[in-house]
Amino acid sequence: MRRAVFRRHGSPQDVLEIVEEDDPLPGPGQVRVRNHVMTINPADLLSIEGRYGTEPISLPATPGVGACGLVDAVGEDVKRLKPGDRVLPVGGGLWADIVILPERMAPPAPAGADPEQAAMMRANPGTAYLLLTGMADLAPGDWVVQNAANSNVGRMVIRFAREMGFHTANIVRRHEVAAVLRGDGADAVIVDDGNTDVTEAVTQAAGATPRIAFDAVGGEATAALSGAVAPHGTVVVYGLLSGQDSVVGARDLVFRDVSVRGFWLADWYRRASPEDMGRLHAFLERKLLDGVIHSPVEARYDLGRIREAVAHAGRGGRNGKIILTGGLHA
Ligand SMILES: NC(=O)c1ccc[n+]([C@@H]2O[C@H](COP(=O)([O-])OP(=O)(O)OC[C@H]3O[C@@H](n4cnc5c(N)ncnc54)[C@H](OP(=O)(O)O)[C@@H]3O)[C@@H](O)[C@H]2O)c1
Repeated sequence: MRRAVFRRHGSPQDVLEIVEEDDPLPGPGQVRVRNHVMTINPADLLSIEGRYGTEPISLPATPGVGACGLVDAVGEDVKRLKPGDRVLPVGGGLWADIVILPERMAPPAPAGADPEQAAMMRANPGTAYLLLTGMADLAPGDWVVQNAANSNVGRMVIRFAREMGFHTANIVRRHEVAAVLRGDGADAVIVDDGNTDVTEAVTQAAGATPRIAFDAVGGEATAALSGAVAPHGTVVVYGLLSGQDSVVGARDLVFRDVSVRGFWLADWYRRASPEDMGRLHAFLERKLLDGVIHSPVEARYDLGRIREAVAHAGRGGRNGKIILTGGLHA
C-alpha cells in the first residue's frame, strides 16, 4: 500500500512524499478500507504548512480527513460491517490506499451516492449548513453576506440559503464565476477587485444591511465585512485564505457593536450531541441524494502524483475540487 507522508512542515508540493508499506491487517474491532477517493481541502494544505489547528501536529504525519472506500477485510468482533461495504472513513491520516479503522470510525456511505460526492459531503456542505443554522437566528427573507462565495463552502451556503428562504450577497474576486453562482441561487454577486467599497456594494445589491457575514478570507476582508453588516451584526470567521490575521475597525467594534467570532467544524464535532450530529448527517444525506449537494471536480490525480495534486489544489482560479484516487479500485 501507499501512504502520503510529510516529515517537516513546508510547502505541500515540496514536503510530501509517498511511502510504500506492507498491507496491514485489521485487529479486533477494526476494519480495513481501500480508499477509492480522498479529498483535498484548504485545511489539508494549511496543516502541512503547519498553520492549522490549535495543537502542533506530531511528525511524520499523513494528511487527509475525507475519503470514500470499500471495506475489504474485517477483524474479530466486527459486528456491522462486511467486506464490500462502502464507507466514509472518519478521522485523520486518510491519504493512503488502505486505512485501518475502528468499526465506529467507518460509517456507511449513503446508499446509491456517488463516491466522490459522498467523500466531500461532510466538511464543506456540513460547514455551510452549520453557518446558516447555528450562528444567528435567521428568518426567511433575511440577508447573509459572504466572501470567497465561489468556494465549495460558499456555493453550498448559496444553495442551502435559497432552500431556507434566506437571501445571499456573494463577494468573489473573478467576474467569470458570477453566472454559476446565480445558477446556484445567489441573489447578488459582487466582484471585489481590491478597490471595491464592499459596504456600499452590499447595501446597493441587497437593499438592506445583512445581520450576519461569513468570512473565509481573513485579513482586511474581515474589516470589509464588519463594515457591511448592520449595527449589532456578526461576522463569523471560518477560514484564513488570505493567510493574514483578521483586521477589524474600531468604528465597527465600538460604535456599531459588531461581533466577530469564529467557527471550526472540528470543534463543533467535539461538542455536538449525538442528536445534533444525527440531524446534520441526515440533512447532508438528504441533500446529497436529491442533488443539492454536488461539487464540481476539476481534476483527479492518482495518489502517486500527490505533489502535482496539491500544487493544483493550491492554485487560485479553479473551477472545482481536486480529488486523489487510490490505486486499488475494486
Ligand atoms: N472552519 C471550518 O470548520 C471550515 C470547514 C470547511 C472549510 N473551511 C474553509 O472554507 C474555505 C473554503 O474552503 P473550500 O474547500 O470550500 O474552498 P475551495 O472550493 O477549494 O475554493 C477556494 C476558494 O478560495 C478563494 N480564495 C483563495 N485564496 C483567496 C484569497 N486570498 N482571497 C479571496 N479568495 C480566495 C478561491 O477563489 P478563486 O476561485 O477566485 O481562486 C476559491 O473561491 C477555506 O478557508 C477553508 O479552510 C473551514
